[in-house]
Amino acid sequence: MKQKWWKESIVYQIYPRSFCDGNGDGVGDLLGIIQKLDYLKELGVNVVWLSPVYKSPNDDNGYDISDYCDIMEEFGTLAIWEEMLAEMHKRGIKLLMDLVVNHTSDEHPWFVEARKSKDNPYRDYYIWRPGKDGREPNNWESFFGGSAWQYDTTTDEYYLHIFSKKQPDLNWENPKVREEVYAMTKWWLEKGIDGFRLDAINLISKVPGLPDAPVTTGEKYQFPGQYVFNGPRLLEFLLEMKKKVLSKYDIFTVGETSLVTTEHGVDYTHEETGPLNMLFQFEHMDVDADRSSMAPRWIRKPLNLHDLKGVMTRWQKDLENKGWNSFYLANHDQPRAVSRFGDDKEYRVESAKMLATFVHLLHGTPYVYQGEEIGMTNVRFDSIEDYRDIETLNMYRAFAEEKGLDRKFVMAMIHDKSRDNARTPMQWDESENAGFTAGTPWMRVNPNYKEINVKQALADPDSIFYYYKKLISLRKENPVVVYGSYDLIFDSHEEVYAFTRTLQKDRLLVILNFTKNTPVFALPSHIRVTDKELLLSNLAVDHAEDIRLLTLRPFEARVYRLR
Ligand code: NOJ
Repeated sequence: MKQKWWKESIVYQIYPRSFCDGNGDGVGDLLGIIQKLDYLKELGVNVVWLSPVYKSPNDDNGYDISDYCDIMEEFGTLAIWEEMLAEMHKRGIKLLMDLVVNHTSDEHPWFVEARKSKDNPYRDYYIWRPGKDGREPNNWESFFGGSAWQYDTTTDEYYLHIFSKKQPDLNWENPKVREEVYAMTKWWLEKGIDGFRLDAINLISKVPGLPDAPVTTGEKYQFPGQYVFNGPRLLEFLLEMKKKVLSKYDIFTVGETSLVTTEHGVDYTHEETGPLNMLFQFEHMDVDADRSSMAPRWIRKPLNLHDLKGVMTRWQKDLENKGWNSFYLANHDQPRAVSRFGDDKEYRVESAKMLATFVHLLHGTPYVYQGEEIGMTNVRFDSIEDYRDIETLNMYRAFAEEKGLDRKFVMAMIHDKSRDNARTPMQWDESENAGFTAGTPWMRVNPNYKEINVKQALADPDSIFYYYKKLISLRKENPVVVYGSYDLIFDSHEEVYAFTRTLQKDRLLVILNFTKNTPVFALPSHIRVTDKELLLSNLAVDHAEDIRLLTLRPFEARVYRLR
């Protein structure tokens, strides 16, 4: 297994709108990021993935881009961006930009041209079809609700938008589109960035003919998954991008890929033949989805640890010595990890540390989402007026207004799963608006900011923040944390997730209690312990304790070196 800097890295995701407002207009920006770089340096992360900062009308908070080569006015200017990059590099922090090329904004000049006439030179940059029997070309549902097709009166045709109608899908079958994307990608790389997170990248090749999706619900539109994800030309397109651009730079690439199997994982990240370094897969984000409910995206069932172990172990083992894993429990599209997989009340600190141990001790590159390092939680605003996310607002309209579902029930789903849980402003201190802005924040701050904030975390040596620092140091100082192979212990234990990491003679044992209970952990006899050293734990531990039979405390986490 080759040594690579991107395997050894710890990535911190910044969602710029909510991170820090440097100019007092209520919106996070690049100046704000520059102000907080010393904080990131103190944490110890060495890569930042920056969610989109390009020009955008913000239908989907920057994931709808109208100019790839300029900065959104609310966030700053290209000159400030250059300064930010230089300040990052000065501190040994590398920068991944977000590459959003499955779609553009409908306000991008290409689309503005494309919709003018059927013979416009840009028409074929997008996916247009005539209607069928007086309705949409097929029955595909948009991921944000409603049809995936939008009728355009000027030319009497529909265009495809997998996400919102202001995010028309690019037509990657058109070689001109690909060349434009590669030129733009190169333009950013030439500015000295260190890589890309590739947004929704396994959607870029659609199945020819765009057939109707199978009808699996009584709804008007159906999920088109099999016809849009991992399409027939995906690997070809990505390998072309690798050959023409990516391979020419020493960079870090991570593809956002829903609905992938570990076979896709190997194909896309293979050390020699794959186009990308690593993926964000989503299988573990689905283990708590209630498939039997009317809305699995929105309705959770309690975590079944056996299922989580199954998913994680499959990814860990199937990619071993072939591709490379990455691991996250939170990002800007997911609820807060501690609220979802831990306990955001009595055991908030313990469970946040336990989950952090899980993320950082698996085999793969770990990702920290802003605020995760201080244990920020989900938010429960009473009124839909306080929510901002297009997916959440569309869902509310469809469920509460069109279907007439009980509003309390709909709000409960939003409290649990809305993407806005991750997008409340970063909590810096106990001052008004959590120190995020001197103005009026674009989205309300989580009311718990007086107890949960960076200032408080930095003042408490036992805080979640300092625990993250220890995990990050552990990774930097011990090659086994980066390169050691993973083996699950106790497949069937319902409360404890334990595994080993082994690199030649070096072996770590990780024991994690995922519950509020006090389960017994008995080390299986095939794991030999002649001597042991406690490297890290989230609760005080008696070093003389015999680890062959332990009663774990709620959300306890321990990492041992075994000899
Ligand atoms: C995935 C991004 O993470 C999400 O925030 C966005 O809405 C969609 N892709 C569309 O770009």
